[in-house]
Amino acid sequence: MFAGDEVMKGSLASYTFEHMEIASYKMLIAAAGEVGDAEVQRVCEENLREEVAMADWLENKLGTVTTSLRRKSPRGSRDGRLAGKQARHGHHRVPETRRAGC
Ligand SMILES: [Fe+2]
Repeated sequence: MFAGDEVMKGSLASYTFEHMEIASYKMLIAAAGEVGDAEVQRVCEENLREEVAMADWLENKLGTVTTSLRRKSPRGSRDGRLAGKQARHGHHRVPETRRAGC
C-alpha cells in the first residue's frame, strides 16, 4: 500500500471485522442450538443477517473506494498503472494483467 491510503486500510479493516462478526454469530448460533436456547439463537440469527448485509455493502464499495482514491493519487495517475510497491497485496503479487484495471 502507498502513503495516504488510510481510507483503503479502513475499508479493509471494516470488511475483515464484519467477517469476524459473521463467524462469531455462526458459532453462537450453533452453541445456542446445541443447548436449546431458542431466544439467543433467534437474536444471533437476526444479528447475523445484519452483519452479512453490511459485509455485502462493504464488498460492493471496495472497488469504488479503491479506484476513486487511486485517481486522486499523483502516483496512481502517472501512467494509469500502479507502481510496483502499490501492486503488491500482502505476500501476493498482483498479476500484470490486473494492475491497470483493478
Ligand atoms: Fe458489523
